[in-house]
Amino acid sequence: MDIQWYPGHMTKTRRMMEENISLVDIVCELVDARLPLSSKNPDIDKLAANKKRIIILNKSDLADPSKTKLWQEYFKEKGFYVITADSKKGEGIKEFYPACRLLMKEKIERLKARGRIMVPSRVMIAGIPNVGKSTLINKILGRNMTKVGDKPGVTRSKQWVKIKKDLELLDTPGILWPKFDDKEAGLRLAFTGAVNDDILDMPELAAEFISRIIKLYPGCLEKRYSVSEEGTPNDILLNIGKNRGFLTKGGEVDPLRTSAVLFDEFRGGRLGRITLEAPPKM
Ligand code: G4P
Repeated sequence: MDIQWYPGHMTKTRRMMEENISLVDIVCELVDARLPLSSKNPDIDKLAANKKRIIILNKSDLADPSKTKLWQEYFKEKGFYVITADSKKGEGIKEFYPACRLLMKEKIERLKARGRIMVPSRVMIAGIPNVGKSTLINKILGRNMTKVGDKPGVTRSKQWVKIKKDLELLDTPGILWPKFDDKEAGLRLAFTGAVNDDILDMPELAAEFISRIIKLYPGCLEKRYSVSEEGTPNDILLNIGKNRGFLTKGGEVDPLRTSAVLFDEFRGGRLGRITLEAPPKM
């Protein structure tokens, strides 16, 4: 199963990112803590060369805490300032301002030595659709300013927001295109809902999900749905539907409804805290 991104979007969002990055000191990239590499934009390292960098491992409430620790180390080693966050609850947000000041320390000292009184940090929040940018911005601002939508690709008008006297945030998040040249990354993104479900064959996607989850977290489906994890992924999917009583009028298991519920529960954290990928060995 191949997951497609939209090339039209990519050209437009890339141009916007290039323009916006030139305006800021710090690029703060959100990734999904359940799949930090697949949800990380492949080109931002080039686009944001010469900028200070923060990585936010967002949705950490849904991710496996032991794996999140490994990811924190991985990104730290790569030179990022790493923050682990649950933007929905606001956890990790208080680290944002001190991180920005720390990253700006040299520039502040340099400019103050030349007589500048105020050196504000200008920051852009960026990330792929649905990773939680608007939610995070709302929490940083402490009020509901940007609209939080559930579909990828919603753009908003640009504006600077003063958060503190020395911290300004570009209100429009940078929308990055995800890594779709890698089939596995595309699938993981689809599992988490980063791809519009309307364009996907959900039962097929569910079978792909099941085949991976029984290896990564054995016993997880058995515990939640009282199904055996033996047999083909499709058999397991049908057994989940059977146990939940998702039957059509003809008495057959309804694979569409079953896969919708399976993804709903995974995305809502009801299968447990699951991380879909481990950091590459360094
Ligand atoms: P975007 O701007 O990057 O496109 O993402 P947005 O903030 O719209 O967030 C996408 C979805 O992710 C929202 O859910 C939001 O609540 C959820 N979300 C954001 N950060 C976190 C987090 O740290 N943990 C969890 N568990 N969820 C997070 P939604 O279903 O579209 O909206 P809602 O029903 O939650 O309001």
